[in-house]
Amino acid sequence: MSTPPEDGRMTMVNFLSPSISRDLLVRTSASTGQSVLNVARSSGIHLPFVCGKGDCGRCAVKAVPVGKTGPMMVNMPGFWERQVLLMAGKITRSEADNELWNWRMAHWRLACQCQLVEAEEILVAF
Ligand code: FES
Repeated sequence: MSTPPEDGRMTMVNFLSPSISRDLLVRTSASTGQSVLNVARSSGIHLPFVCGKGDCGRCAVKAVPVGKTGPMMVNMPGFWERQVLLMAGKITRSEADNELWNWRMAHWRLACQCQLVEAEEILVAF
């Protein structure tokens, strides 16, 4: 579990994967500003990754906001992240060309580039 930031904002992160003991849900809290990959690693969750820099696409996860009326919970994907997700076959060309995604919907993201930005709750499936 991570150390809370000075402002005390924490995000509940729920990890769901068949690779986690019989598809169990693992729930952890993390300080805002952290990447989903770092939260997984610090929580002992073996989320697949290679580069950790947004280049390989191996850490693609489905980020699902919980409580769809709250504030934006993760950062918007940048240009390069969208290109990597497109090359990995996770998103369409029109999604890759769109700078502003509807953050209230589930989206494929690169866990190493997806950062928690608000004290809310998110589900991460991989
Ligand atoms: S680990 Fe390579 S893109 Fe995230």
